Amino acid sequence: TGAQEGTVTKRGFWSSRLAFILAATGSAVGLGNIWKFPYITGENGGGAFVLVYLICIAAVGIPIMMAEVLIGRRGGHSPVNSLRLITQRDKLHPLWKWVGVIGVLAGFLILSFYSVIGGWALSYVGTSASGQFSGQTAEAVGSIFSGLLSDPMTLLTWHTLFMALVMVVVARGVSSGLERATSILMPGLFVLLLIMVGYAMTTGHFGEAVSFLFQPDFSKLTTSGVLVALGHAFFTLSLGMAVMMAYGSYLPKNVSIAKASVTVSVMDTGVALLAGLAIFPVVFANGLEPGAGPGLIFQTLPLAFGQMPMGGLFGTLFFVLLVFAAWTSGISLLEPLVEWLEEQKGMNRTISTLIAGFTCWVLGIASILSLNLWSDVTPLGMFAMFEGKTIFDLLDYLTANILLPLGGLLVAVLVGWFMSKQALQNELSLSEGGFRLWHNTLKFITPIAVLVVFFYNLA
Ligand code: PFF
Ligand code: NA
Repeated sequence: TGAQEGTVTKRGFWSSRLAFILAATGSAVGLGNIWKFPYITGENGGGAFVLVYLICIAAVGIPIMMAEVLIGRRGGHSPVNSLRLITQRDKLHPLWKWVGVIGVLAGFLILSFYSVIGGWALSYVGTSASGQFSGQTAEAVGSIFSGLLSDPMTLLTWHTLFMALVMVVVARGVSSGLERATSILMPGLFVLLLIMVGYAMTTGHFGEAVSFLFQPDFSKLTTSGVLVALGHAFFTLSLGMAVMMAYGSYLPKNVSIAKASVTVSVMDTGVALLAGLAIFPVVFANGLEPGAGPGLIFQTLPLAFGQMPMGGLFGTLFFVLLVFAAWTSGISLLEPLVEWLEEQKGMNRTISTLIAGFTCWVLGIASILSLNLWSDVTPLGMFAMFEGKTIFDLLDYLTANILLPLGGLLVAVLVGWFMSKQALQNELSLSEGGFRLWHNTLKFITPIAVLVVFFYNLA
């Protein structure tokens, strides 16, 4: 059959290169850029952390994204089956298909808490629209946020709504409507971030924020900060869990994998840096703590909206767009598990979505409780590395900093060391020098970087 030849038959292609870019960007750009990047940058001291993060994107993220898209396009099936076909064809060990299984598990664990944060964003749409942020002080905005965190029922309601939104789309099969919406709303998010950076320039603390973000002070960088930067490179680009393999399987053969991967990565990085430039001037102007943690954007952006002209409108629009960005990422987190249940367990799409989504929703409740009633529960607290980490913190840490880099490491080893170079070059059609640069990076730099960072953090 076509599948054994490594070509894609019977399945559709993306309508164009643009369609792939839209879907991949929809998965990549999300809470990772706007919620997570600023708060981990604040916690890890700024500039030096940002520099390491940017190096990880370039030296680890982009090469692995290319490798994942390549596996998907060459395999032409869902990640687990693509991996099975490719490894059979090259007579490799069948255990390689477990790379896909790690991915399915990671996506499931991530979505459980991602949906809770998506719920925060949903609730802020209403808070903004009802004018509650207008003219508020930092204390008042802070207490709106802590009020939300201390209320499990409200958190549960928004988490449920967010998960329902994700499940509806996944159950119907990702549609072209979503593709069209992404092509309008993503640029909208970008424009709104630019407006907020414009406002940030009027706070009188823009220069301070620029130095904080871009002037490396290596005395503030810890070994755990390096792991967080590496883990975040995977998280933000949606790598290490086979999402890009799934999307790559629809990419037409004549599209350059390298160009498409670089485009997606540059857009993702651009959104994160803009979010940083919008948030830190407000942090400094109001004497807030950059290391405030996961609540950072929810305690700073409302202040900006409360002060800027038409802030009620911009604030509402911003949180709507944030929800949308989180939604398209959430869909890509659930999709692999649902596909896997369909293929391996022979369930239909509706049933697999219901089972996967419901289980994920239940696990999300543990994250909700760890923000209030269980805030003292630290299940792995006896290990120094996990000291003080709640269930929510642990899920975030274990997925982004361990499971995703591990999945990426395996992809790098599979593609860099085991697949035939000729086959790789056929897919990529790069110049000789470009190919060698990519192949050597994947073969040596990526695995060594991941292993060294892992080792230092265990030791
Ligand atoms: N990349 C998404 C973000 O930055 O918000 C999160 C994510 C989506 C991670 C899909 C992993 C993934 F497979
Ligand atoms: Na991202």
